[in-house]
Amino acid sequence: MYLLVTKTQEIAYIKIFKIIGLNKMTNKLLIAGNWKMNGNKKDISFIKGLSKFISNNKLKNIEVLICPPFTLIDKFSSLTSRSPINIGAQDCSSNDSGAYTGEISASMIKDFNGKYCIIGHSERRIYHNETNNLINNKILQAQEENLRTILCVGETLSDRKNKRTLRVLGNQIKSSLKGKINPNQLDIAYEPVWAIGTGLVPSNYDIEEIHNFIFNKLKKIYGNRAKNIRILYGGSVNSNNISSISSLNNVSGALIGGASLKIGDMKSILKQFI
Ligand code: PGA
Repeated sequence: MYLLVTKTQEIAYIKIFKIIGLNKMTNKLLIAGNWKMNGNKKDISFIKGLSKFISNNKLKNIEVLICPPFTLIDKFSSLTSRSPINIGAQDCSSNDSGAYTGEISASMIKDFNGKYCIIGHSERRIYHNETNNLINNKILQAQEENLRTILCVGETLSDRKNKRTLRVLGNQIKSSLKGKINPNQLDIAYEPVWAIGTGLVPSNYDIEEIHNFIFNKLKKIYGNRAKNIRILYGGSVNSNNISSISSLNNVSGALIGGASLKIGDMKSILKQFI
């Protein structure tokens, strides 16, 4: 926990946040699946099943996004062209075209009808040494192609233990959002690194406190337009915790890894919003 509070105190704090009117977005909640390096051609059955589930059930105020590997964006986009499911990418290049072996540009994602791009996921920061500066350039590229960008931020366990969480998040946000960023085409995913794929989740109190901090930071940069930026929580989200997390103040959805890979888990998550 970021602050040590009892369960009763936690509930009381959440009520206080609501009473003093801290922001709850009016935007649709975004439930986004990040497939990471998983998925093959055979997984078109997932997207067909998910489309069918969504057309048979009336989801309340929810937008559904699936970000498969690049290799499936084209197929998934065409399979969902008549469904409300959006398809996005997990990364893009900071350049538009040229001699950058192995890279995929935002315009290529757009060409395959991708609508979103996740940028700055902690796995890219850790395994590919992505800096806030590079992430900033990637966001600018993605937005240039009208891709809605999901900027991921999050502290490591050591940041948290050393009480550096807010400093790290503040710096990631400030340094990644330089230049002509359009807040109307931006969402943020708060993903504590220690919560990703571990089954560990911060307390609701901590999540709300950090999301309020992020919202205030965005408000300083974008003023009232910050209200259009959804702040998602990510890290070990599943069908048991999605309802309580997504009802917190300034939490406007979730970025889901492991639980977004199985159609049964995804349906159980979405059932909470029927
Ligand atoms: P997880 O991953 O849901 O498996 O923890 C979330 C993410 O990395 O986006």
